[in-house]
Amino acid sequence: MSDEPIYSIENMVIDLYATTVSVRAVDGVSFNVRPGETVAVVGESGSGKTVMTLGPLGLLPEGVTVDIKGSARSEASELVGMESRRLSDLRGRYFGVIFQDPMSALNPMLKIGPQLARQARRFANLSHADARKEAVSLLARTGIPDPEDRYDRYPHEMSGGMLQRAMIALALASRPRVLIADEPTTALDATVQAQILELIREIQREEGIAVVLITHDIGVVASVADRVMVLYAGQVAEEGTAMDVLTRPTHPYTRGLLASVPDFRADERAATKEIPGLPPNQIRLEPGCRFAARCELVEPECHVHRPPLQTISTGGTPHKVGCPVVLRREGIAVHG
Ligand SMILES: Nc1ncnc2c1ncn2[C@@H]1O[C@H](COP(=O)(O)OP(=O)(O)OP(=O)(O)O)[C@@H](O)[C@H]1O
Ligand SMILES: [Mg+2]
Repeated sequence: MSDEPIYSIENMVIDLYATTVSVRAVDGVSFNVRPGETVAVVGESGSGKTVMTLGPLGLLPEGVTVDIKGSARSEASELVGMESRRLSDLRGRYFGVIFQDPMSALNPMLKIGPQLARQARRFANLSHADARKEAVSLLARTGIPDPEDRYDRYPHEMSGGMLQRAMIALALASRPRVLIADEPTTALDATVQAQILELIREIQREEGIAVVLITHDIGVVASVADRVMVLYAGQVAEEGTAMDVLTRPTHPYTRGLLASVPDFRADERAATKEIPGLPPNQIRLEPGCRFAARCELVEPECHVHRPPLQTISTGGTPHKVGCPVVLRREGIAVHG
C-alpha cells in the first residue's frame, strides 16, 4: 500500500439547493484514500455519504443545484471548480463508480456488452473487435457465467446479482484507480453480497486500486475495510482503522451504531438497541454537536460549540473522535 493518498477531500462543505429547500448535506469533512486501501464510509440514511463521495465528481442527480466548497484532489488535479468536460474525462480515467441503484448506471435500452465496450473504448485506443473482447473479459472477470451470451442481453434480462456484477464490470471498464462503491450490496441476498465483496477485494488486490466503500452494514466494514469514517449529519463523528473503531468505538454515535447491530459482538446477552430519535433536520441546523439531541452523554457545552475531531491514538493511523465530553469523562488522552 502506498503512503500517498490517490484521492483526498479537505474541508468539504456541500450545500444542495432544490426548488424550495436548501440542505447542508456535507459540513466540513476531510478524508483520503491510498492505492490498495479500502476506506468505508458509514452512517445512517441521510448522513451525507452519497453526496460527499459523488458530489465532487459531478455525479449528483440533476434538478438540484450543488454548491461545493473545499478541495477534492486526485493526484495533481483539483476537482472542485473544474470545468465539466474535463471533470467528465478525469472521472472516466480515474474513478469507477458502483451506484446504489444499478439501473442508474446502465442504459435499459442498450445491451449490456456494447455498453461495456463503449466505456472501454472511451479511455483506451481499442478497435471495435478488441473492445468487444475486453467487454466479454470484464463480464467473465466479474463472475458472470456464459459471458459471450450475456454480452447480447439487455439489463432487464438479468437478475439483481448479475446486474450488480455488470455494473462493477462497467465501473472497471475504464481501468480506474479509485473505485467508489455506494452500497454495492444492499439489494442483494447474503450469499450474493459476500460474493460481490470478495470480487471487489480480488480486483483491488490484483490492480492495487483504492476503494471507497459506502455502507450502513457494520458486518461489511468488519470484513473488508482498512479504515472507516463514521458520518453523522454531514460531519465526521469518528474515524480510524476499522480495528480501532470497531473494537474501541468511542463517539457515542458510533457506540450506538454498533449496539444497534444484531450479533456484531457475538454476545448473546447484549440486547441490540436502536439509537433513540432521528437525525437532525439539516435545513435548520442548531449550533453545537449534531448528535446532542440523541446523546446519552449530552452536556450544556454540546449545544454551544461544534466539537473538534481529536486524535486519541498515535499509531500508524490515528483514531479521531469528535466528542470532547466522552474523552474527558473516560480520561482518554488526546494527542497532538
Ligand atoms: N437530490 C437531492 N435533493 C435534495 N436533497 C438531497 C438530494 N440528495 C440528497 N439530499 C439530501 O442531502 C443529505 C445527504 O444525503 P445523502 O444521499 O448523501 O445521504 P446518504 O448518507 O447517502 O443516505 P442513504 O444511506 O439513504 O443513501 C440528506 O439530507 C438528503 O436529504
Ligand atoms: Mg446514499
